[in-house]
Amino acid sequence: MRATDIPNDVREVLITEEEIQAKLAEIARRIEADYAECEPLLIGVLKGAVMVVSDLSRELTIPLKMDWMAVSSYGSGTESSGVVRILKDLDTDLTGRHVLIVEDIIDSGLTLSWLKQNLESRGPASVEICTLLRKPERLKSDVPVRYVGFDVPNEFVVGYGLDYDEQYRHLRDIIVLQPHVYGGE
Ligand code: XMP
Ligand code: MG
Repeated sequence: MRATDIPNDVREVLITEEEIQAKLAEIARRIEADYAECEPLLIGVLKGAVMVVSDLSRELTIPLKMDWMAVSSYGSGTESSGVVRILKDLDTDLTGRHVLIVEDIIDSGLTLSWLKQNLESRGPASVEICTLLRKPERLKSDVPVRYVGFDVPNEFVVGYGLDYDEQYRHLRDIIVLQPHVYGGE
């Protein structure tokens, strides 16, 4: 589905499908160079990172493995508490592995900061982070992020894996919704 298929729901197309794919190709070239000597384990954080992992991994021309984790990042409301619960853990032993966490969006960064520490405690050789989107205004954690696709303004965005009430994940572009979608004017 494209933004043009749902004109009434779209306030603004923030990042087009073409821009996303071009950026993922750029990031893939950097990952290929950085992991030329060692096979990375891509860890996708469900559910939002599904599209990023799918497209990024298929753009990569080096051997890699893939695994998935699901965590609950929000306590109450829309503010991340930094208190995280693992809903689905990895199937892979991380001992000696070069781990690359792949995220859809970093908001406060508290979820990711917790996740990085958790994975580091499992004996990997390295843990790096790749995110398609980052909201710099909201960052509350200084966890280093090696690969960042786009910095976005502090607005709720959907599409390309990101949802509102589980909708819009299959949208190819990243958009800001019209307020009426949330029940506003
Ligand atoms: P923190 O604050 O811990 O949380 O970095 C990151 C998680 O918050 C969700 N999130 C969003 N989801 N549109 C979304 O669909 C957004 O604009 C947005 N901002 C934050 C998301 O689940 C992310 O993993
Ligand atoms: Mg969500």
